[in-house]
Amino acid sequence: MSEYELILTETRGRVGHITLNRPEALNALNRQLMREIVSAGRAYDADPDIGAIVITGSAKAFAAGADIKEMAERDYVDMYLDDPFAEWSEFSRLRTPVVAAVAGFALGGGCELAMMCDIILAADTARFGQPEIKLGVIPGMGGTQRLPRAVGRYKAAELVLTGRTMDAEEAERAGLVSRVVPADELLAEAAATAETIASMSLPVVYAAKEALQAAEETVLAEGLRFEKQAFTATFALDDQTEGMRAFRDKRSPDFGHR
Ligand code: CAA
Repeated sequence: MSEYELILTETRGRVGHITLNRPEALNALNRQLMREIVSAGRAYDADPDIGAIVITGSAKAFAAGADIKEMAERDYVDMYLDDPFAEWSEFSRLRTPVVAAVAGFALGGGCELAMMCDIILAADTARFGQPEIKLGVIPGMGGTQRLPRAVGRYKAAELVLTGRTMDAEEAERAGLVSRVVPADELLAEAAATAETIASMSLPVVYAAKEALQAAEETVLAEGLRFEKQAFTATFALDDQTEGMRAFRDKRSPDFGHR
């Protein structure tokens, strides 16, 4: 029996899949669902046979946000002491790359969950936005910080201040989404992308993700310093020798995956 109630997990090859499964609430992120997602992500992260993670929802909703009904009666002191979204930082700090496969609504915390991932693939049915302002609150899981970095401050301001949502095409044009695909191809495309990542050298993939994160979190000079160290460190790995020899020998590299 699965240890989870609100998500489905499945390992296929070197890819760990997480499917949010709270359809009656459009995958609204209540405390239990958030805990299960973080726990599954950490379990995949701890498994050296997993090289990438795919997270998805249903055809109608990736996730329609934090659970409004769970939050409705809470007050400031309660939220401040409980800090209910604190554990999300663990999800955004997974070393394993995460591909978000988004169909339907990705609103509020749902959009923020997608933005904690490394790659966002969208079905042509996807809708993204931060409508918290309409509820009398502001985004609380990174929306005011990650959305401007993804789409620029002016577009982010419009979305956060008006609550307007954008369709998949607009999200792709704005740089939030890396690719839009027909809805019935979304999961296959996400799996293929994740499998490609998982076929690479795991320590090198970790280093690349960490360097990309440094681009978000530091100033350019510091990020470039980090990149130089990490790039140079790859030359300590057998995988660098193998990758470059394989290129020279005109064969596929063998990074020693089981
Ligand atoms: N929390 C709790 N329940 C939710 C929910 C949410 N975020 N989103 C949807 N649901 C529930 C609905 O209440 C409804 O349940 P009942 O059948 O028991 O009434 C069920 O899911 C189906 O939803 P709708 O009937 O509303 O479906 P729809 O197709 O008519 O509309 C929708 C879809 C436009 C996404 C609409 O559900 C909606 O606006 N949802 C809320 C979106 C939102 O405001 N998200 C931000 C949440 S706050 C947040 O996320 C804070 C943060 O930054 C961390």
